[in-house]
Amino acid sequence: MSLTPVRACLYTDEAAAVPVGTPWPASARTTPAGDLTVGGVDLAEAADRFRTPLYLLDEDEFRARCRAYRTALPGAEVLYAAKAFLCSALTEWIAEEGLGLDVCSEGELRLAAAAGFPPERILLHGNAKSPEELRLARRLRVGRIVIDNLAEIPRLAALTSADAPQRVLLRVVPGVSAGHHDAVRTGVAGQKFGFTVAGGDALAAVGRVLEQPGLLLTGLHCHLGSQITSVEPYLTAVDRLVELLADIHARHGVQLPELDLGGGHGVPYVPPAPGDAEFDLDEFAVRVPVRLADRCKRHRLDVPRLLVEPGRALVGPAGVAVYRVLAVKQTGDGRTFAAVDGGMSDNPRPALYGAEYSVRLIGRPGAPQTREVDVVGRHCEAGDVLVRAARLPADLRPGDLLAVPTAGAYQLSMASGYNLVGRPALVATQAGRARLLIRRESVEDFRTREVSR
Ligand code: LLP
Repeated sequence: MSLTPVRACLYTDEAAAVPVGTPWPASARTTPAGDLTVGGVDLAEAADRFRTPLYLLDEDEFRARCRAYRTALPGAEVLYAAKAFLCSALTEWIAEEGLGLDVCSEGELRLAAAAGFPPERILLHGNAKSPEELRLARRLRVGRIVIDNLAEIPRLAALTSADAPQRVLLRVVPGVSAGHHDAVRTGVAGQKFGFTVAGGDALAAVGRVLEQPGLLLTGLHCHLGSQITSVEPYLTAVDRLVELLADIHARHGVQLPELDLGGGHGVPYVPPAPGDAEFDLDEFAVRVPVRLADRCKRHRLDVPRLLVEPGRALVGPAGVAVYRVLAVKQTGDGRTFAAVDGGMSDNPRPALYGAEYSVRLIGRPGAPQTREVDVVGRHCEAGDVLVRAARLPADLRPGDLLAVPTAGAYQLSMASGYNLVGRPALVATQAGRARLLIRRESVEDFRTREVSR
């Protein structure tokens, strides 16, 4: 991926500031004094100002990633998957960068609409859309709705007419297994999303949709899984989906003009070791359209327009989390634990999926010697581990600050109220300025939701 924006370094002593490299944002700079800046903002200063745990989002990194997708895939429509993380500022950046938005709930839809996101560029999907969500989507005039089950067909048809049709896609399961964990592999049968291609469920559902005068079927939709590091699964999906398009053409005489391959493009969470698989956007951008054109030619079909829905690949590397160390404990069996002021309530991914992360000391130079440390959270579970077996300076002590990169996707969006710790604040960094986007959640926030006792 060519995702390195050319940025001015905002240090006064520019020679001393060096880029940090993968998996940090391209703007990340470090100095011998142990300072780390992102978007020109000193993370230790931000931690003092906004308190910890703190999440930072590098606006330029996010925008550069949006542009990289649009440049690499000029013929395709790129929709940001809101589930990775959404807030009003981000919605504006997405609109300005010319992307569409994939939402999967009334909350995401309402937030985007309230922020002024163009509704025709919104796609709503989900395996359990409520009648209210469908009504809201129609009222707001969202561009596309992805049909995931048979019940939705008459339900949506009742809200539409031939004069005011709704553009819809059909979610299908191509039978391709991909993704970092069983819990996120959605391209295979035996999970809750979509209609299977094998066995004919998808073909039968197409027939049902085509019977509805108010539904304009524009294409097929699939999502294989998440944190996929190879292009191969997408090529197999293209093969299977084009076969289905050919069957649809043969059976119903229609050619569908759109093909949505979902998201799932992986990003590095730890510095890549030689030989590590990494998702390559440029390879995807060349091989997928070539394969699609080739398979369509074989089946004598018009080539449909490609849609992609990356979430993590746009926002993940733009985020950094900062924690304060509250205790360092050495146990009898020779292990060292650094307990920080956040944990599984702001990042459930290690506990849920065994996800790996990088971590580094910031705010002071550390001792040159390192030791193996488990960075653990503050929650009441032994499984509340943020980074297992990290190498950190041997003099790590309470009061130190630790920064975790690749924190932009599926962390704040999956954060919980566990132990009433409260979800962290989010700050945008850009050109040396730190802008508070979301304030920290307080006990008052929890209390104000209580209506009786
Ligand atoms: N489109 C659809 C229909 C999806 O279901 C998803 C993610 C995406 C796009 C975006 O996928 P991405 O490009 O962000 O991988 N909580 C898990 C990830 C769950 C992904 C769910 N669907 C994690 O933290 O790894």
